[in-house]
Amino acid sequence: MRIRSFLFIAACCAGFSAYAQPKLNKSNIKEVVAAMTLDEKIEFIHGIGMGVTVAGNGPVAGSVGGRVPGAAGLTQTIERLGIPPIIMADGPAGLRIDTLRQGEQKRYYTTAFPTGTILASTWNPELIQEVGRNMGNEVKEYGVDVLLAPGINIQRNLLCGRNYEYYSEDPYLTGRIGAAFINGVQENGVGTSLKHFAVNNQESNRSYVDAVVSERALREIYLRAFQYIVKTAQPWTVMSSYNKLNGTYTSESKHLLTTILRDEWGFKGMVTTDWFAGKNYPAQVSAGNDLLMPGRSSETKKIKAALSAGTLNEKDLDRNIERILELVIKCPSFLGYKYSNNPDLKAHAQVARKAAAEGMVLLKNNGMALPIAKGNVCLLGNASYSTFVGGTGSGEVASAHNISIAEGLKAAGMQVTNELTMLHKKYIVEEKAKQPARTNILQKINVLPERGWTQAELSALADKTDIAIVTIGRNAGEGSDRKIDIDYLLSDTEKALIDNAAATFHAKGKKVVVVLNIDGVIDVASWADKADAILVAWLPGVQAGNAVADVVSGRVNPSGKLAITFPKTYDDVPSAKTFPGLPVERPDSCVYDDDIYVGYRYANTRGVAPAYEFGFGLSYTTFKMSNLKVKASGNGLYTATVTVRNTGKKAGKEVVQLYLAAPTTQIDKPSEELKGFVKTRLLKPSESQTVTFTLTPYDLASFNPSQSAWIADAGTYTVKVGNSSRNFLQQMTFSVNREIIVENCHHHE
Ligand code: BGC
Repeated sequence: MRIRSFLFIAACCAGFSAYAQPKLNKSNIKEVVAAMTLDEKIEFIHGIGMGVTVAGNGPVAGSVGGRVPGAAGLTQTIERLGIPPIIMADGPAGLRIDTLRQGEQKRYYTTAFPTGTILASTWNPELIQEVGRNMGNEVKEYGVDVLLAPGINIQRNLLCGRNYEYYSEDPYLTGRIGAAFINGVQENGVGTSLKHFAVNNQESNRSYVDAVVSERALREIYLRAFQYIVKTAQPWTVMSSYNKLNGTYTSESKHLLTTILRDEWGFKGMVTTDWFAGKNYPAQVSAGNDLLMPGRSSETKKIKAALSAGTLNEKDLDRNIERILELVIKCPSFLGYKYSNNPDLKAHAQVARKAAAEGMVLLKNNGMALPIAKGNVCLLGNASYSTFVGGTGSGEVASAHNISIAEGLKAAGMQVTNELTMLHKKYIVEEKAKQPARTNILQKINVLPERGWTQAELSALADKTDIAIVTIGRNAGEGSDRKIDIDYLLSDTEKALIDNAAATFHAKGKKVVVVLNIDGVIDVASWADKADAILVAWLPGVQAGNAVADVVSGRVNPSGKLAITFPKTYDDVPSAKTFPGLPVERPDSCVYDDDIYVGYRYANTRGVAPAYEFGFGLSYTTFKMSNLKVKASGNGLYTATVTVRNTGKKAGKEVVQLYLAAPTTQIDKPSEELKGFVKTRLLKPSESQTVTFTLTPYDLASFNPSQSAWIADAGTYTVKVGNSSRNFLQQMTFSVNREIIVENCHHHE
C-alpha cells in the first residue's frame, strides 16, 4: 500500500507524466498495472455486458449495444493506459450476435454449425479443427476477440438440458474433439473459453447446486478432458462454472483454479467466471478467477471492503489484472485488426454440411432400407418441415436460412409432394400459434404434438410413395433439464405416427425410416422394431436438411459413431437415481454415487446391455480389422497397429477404437476404457489402411485416491480394438512388471 501511495504521489507531481501513463504493450504489463489507481483496478477485474437488445430481433441474452451488438460481454477500457475493451461472444455451435443493428438494413448473420454432440459423433478431430477454423474466422471478421466455447462437460445423465452443447460421456473423446476445436478457432488469432470448469453436468438449480464427487471420479471423468485440452491446446481462457463442487463454488476454489489448473496442468491463460456465477467475489479474486463477468456493482463494494479489511490482498488483484492484460495484448481489438463484418458464410455452410453429415449415426438399417437415391418420399413428422438445427440458450445461433429436411431431400432429387408439404406447414403454423411467445433465449421451444393421420390418409400416401421417412424432433437448452415424459419418451402422438406409418407401409411392402432430429438421447428401444432404418441426425446446424439428404441418398456413407450410450430404459442410466439431486424440485446437492461408472464404463462393467452402445454406428459398407500388433516402444510407451479393410461394396470411413482393460490388483476399474481412436480415410472397396496408436503411461494409469496419484499398476493389460465399446474385433495383452507412478497430484481435503 505504501508503494502504491508513493506511485500515486509521484504520478500527481509529474502531472500524469509518461511514467504514470504507460501505454499498454507486450512488454510493459507490470508497469501498466502499477499505473492504475485502486479504483481502476477494482473496476478492471469485472466486465460489462447484459445490456439492451436491439428491438425486433427476438430474444438475446447478452447484448452490449456498441461495437458488436449481441455479444455476451466485454472487458473495461482504460484509454489513458492504452487498454481497449476486448469482446467476448458465445458459443459452441457458432457465433451468437444480434442480427440487427440500429439504423441499418443489413443483417449480421452467422453460421449455425452442427452442435457439440454431433461434432463429437464424427470422431474426426481433423474435421473438427476445420469447423473451429471456420467458426473462428467469423469471430474475427465480426470484431470479436474471444469465443465462449467449447462446452466440454461430461454427459453424465442424458437429461441434462445442455448436453447438446457438450460432446460425450467419455473424457478421452471429449478431450480429443475439444482440443481440435480450440486449435482450429485459435489459428485465427482469436481466443476460446474452455467451459464450464467444472462438474457442471446439470441445469437444475445450477447456480446453487453442490456436485458431490469423489476425488477419483473428479480426476478420471470430470477433469480429465479439461486437463488434456489445457495441456495440448492452451485455450486463451477458461470459464469457471456456476455450481459448487464438494461444498465450494468452483469460481471460488483456489484448489481448482490455481493448484490444479495452473500449478499441475500449466494453464497460462485467463480465467473468467460464468455470467453472474459465485457469491463471494473476494474469494473469487484470491482463488485466481481473474475476470468477473459480466460485472455487477455489488462486486466493487465487496472487493473494496475486503481490501480495506485486509482479507483480500492487492497482490492477488494485480496478478489477475496482469493475466487479463496478457489476454488483451493478444486480441485483434488490441492489435487493431480491421474486421470486415463480412465472413464467407457460403463457404462456412459447406464445412457445416460436411461435419453434420459425418456426425450422423446410422443405428439400424435392415435390408439396406437406406440409401435411397431417388423416389417419392412420404415425409412425415413436424421436424421434417420445421427442423431443429440447434438448441436454446447461449448456444443459439442465428443463420439466414436453415435448410429443413424436406428442402434437403428435394434438393437431392427426391420427391416430396406439395400436398404433404402444405398439410404439414399449415398444421405447424396452427400449432405454433398455440405456444407461448418466446421472450428470452432461456425459454425452451416446446415440441409440437404430431398431426393425427387417418388410416385412409396414410394408406393413400403409401400407395403414392416409395418409402416413409418419419422425423422425430426434440429440443432442449440452457436453464433447465429435460424430462422423462414426452421428452426422453415419445409422446402418444409420436408413437401413433410411427406405429401407423409402419403398419400401413409394411402392409404394402414398403419401408419406414425414422430420422431422429434430437438434442440428446431419447428412448429408441420401445419402438426400434417398427423402423427398418434409424438415423440419428442430432441438431445438425444450418445445413441440416442437406446433410440428412447426403446420408439418406448415399452421397455420404455414414461414419458417425455414438458419443453417448442409448440405454434400453432410463433406469439403466447409472445416475438415474441421483440426477439432478435432492430435493428434486430445487436440488441443493447432487451426489455422484455412480462415481467413475458413467456411460459405457457402467454398462460394460456391470453387464447392463444398452439399446445402442457408445462407439456404435453403421455404414453402407462393411469393414474387417486384422493383424493387431502391440509392442513396447521405449520410454514406457506402447505402440499398437491394426489393419482395417473395406470388405463391402461402397467407399466408406471406419472409426478404429482402442479400448484398454487394466489390471485391478489395487483398485476396481472399468472393464475397459477408450484410450485411442483413428478415423480412416475414405476407403474404397477392398482398400486397406493400417492405423497406429501410441499408449503412454498416462493411458495405462488410474487415479488412486489413497495416494492421490495417477498409477499404472503392474500386471496384464488387454488391448481391445473394434468399432464400438462392445464389438471388439482384435485383442492382445502385454504386461507391466512394476508399478509406475505417473503423476502425483495435490490432494484436497
Ligand atoms: C452460460 C455460458 C455463456 C454465458 C454468456 C451463461 O449463461 O452458462 O455458457 O457463455 O452465459 O452468454
